[in-house]
Amino acid sequence: MRLLAAVGALAIILAVFAGVYFFAGFYDVAAAVGDPVPVKWALIRTRNASIARHEDEGGNAPFPLDDQTVIQQGARDFANAGCVHCHGGPGVKWSKFSEGLNPDPPDLKDVANERSAAGIFWVIKNGIRMTGMPSFGKAGLTDDQLWHLAAFVKAIPKVSDADYRTWTAASANP
Ligand code: HEC
Repeated sequence: MRLLAAVGALAIILAVFAGVYFFAGFYDVAAAVGDPVPVKWALIRTRNASIARHEDEGGNAPFPLDDQTVIQQGARDFANAGCVHCHGGPGVKWSKFSEGLNPDPPDLKDVANERSAAGIFWVIKNGIRMTGMPSFGKAGLTDDQLWHLAAFVKAIPKVSDADYRTWTAASANP
């Protein structure tokens, strides 16, 4: 009984402490402030687990993702959708503002090597909450466009700066 009362009292004290910490403004929402190492670790684990659990939701790609015309269309969509502003692209530097994002946008070359095409499709379609990564499904891109983008991201490690320049030269907004 005494133990239960102590646990209950502790829970109430913790709840009050958390309420004051978060609702009275002590928690700092500034993007300029980095997360403590354990929080960062937990966020990365949460993101990886979430993507792994959801990545099959998009089904199969409607066309082969290693097809050159698909990859080139993806390059144009990548330029037009504004991905380059945050992530940069082959031979294209990201916009300065993206250095102020927290968490910072990853190098998509690394993502291409680590993440499946289905996982990349899911991320582009749904975005990542509480980060700068938007949901491009919500922003109106079709599944076909999203698969083009996933094909291009998967191909990025093999795309030369010159290829990217040529493929996107005709884009309205490179
Ligand atoms: C406004 C900035 C911004 C734009 C625009 C943006 N991203 Fe991102 N993206 C991010 C950030 C920030 C992350 C990292 C999120 C995290 O660490 O959880 C991210 C993560 C990703 C990831 C990796 C997720 C993972 O861990 O596997 C992929 C793939 C990606 N973006 C693709 C794209 C594509 C393709 C576009 C354009 C259609 C795009 N992004 C546009 C900011 C952006």
